[in-house]
Amino acid sequence: MLSLTHVSRQFERAPFPVIDALSLQVAAGSSISIRGASGCGKSTLLTLIAGLDAPDSGEIIVGNANLTHLKASDLDDFRKNQLGMIYQQFNLLDCFNVWDNIAFTARLKGNYVSARQQALMHMMGIDHLADAPLGQLSGGEQQRVAICRALNHEPALVLADEPTGNLDEMTSDKVAKGLFDVCQKTNTTLIVVTHSADVACLADASYRLHNGKLHQVQPNGHQ
Ligand SMILES: Nc1ncnc2c1ncn2[C@@H]1O[C@H](COP(=O)(O)OP(=O)(O)O)[C@@H](O)[C@H]1O
Ligand SMILES: [Mg+2]
Repeated sequence: MLSLTHVSRQFERAPFPVIDALSLQVAAGSSISIRGASGCGKSTLLTLIAGLDAPDSGEIIVGNANLTHLKASDLDDFRKNQLGMIYQQFNLLDCFNVWDNIAFTARLKGNYVSARQQALMHMMGIDHLADAPLGQLSGGEQQRVAICRALNHEPALVLADEPTGNLDEMTSDKVAKGLFDVCQKTNTTLIVVTHSADVACLADASYRLHNGKLHQVQPNGHQ
């Protein structure tokens, strides 16, 4: 489903590439977790897979799309139709309430079903917040809005950047299980960046990002 071959990315002023000839294969419908020190390039890797940034070299293939060869309008279509992105900083739309933020991806794709959205919000424990303006939400509530928005249009691939980073342990457990559960039931490929060993354990395979490359590790983080 997802294939990265020798992908490299070096930023201006950086002495070495943050992603360095990295290769990765993820089967359709499976899940992986990625851990690594702050600043090691986890978010950068996700933005490359999302086609929001382009590698200096290497190839990224998602489904039957080779992102490195797509023109900008086709990349937009790829994201609209196939991708669910949970940003580390949420990137919610302040001018909309909770319901409309979550509905956004499905309305854009044209597969909005209010009952499906209701079920997702219930699973994430935010169904009582449908009418709330974003400014009234806690960080943890906003995080769950971002998760629902990324799942609501039934994408083929979900990229989650520290999706439980703002949640207490009990809520994190519930929300992470919900995220993995929805993806498993809908055969959605899931890539989760996390610092939590408990969240990493839920994935089919676990990796650590170090020196620009991914190394497969045991779910508890050991090599
Ligand atoms: N757009 C950018 N321009 C320049 N440097 C960047 C940019 N994005 C990330 N970086 C740098 O790349 C490194 C990795 O950042 P990031 O991917 O956010 O790390 P992580 O998510 O693992 O904490 C950091 O040193 C960061 O400053
Ligand atoms: Mg990050």
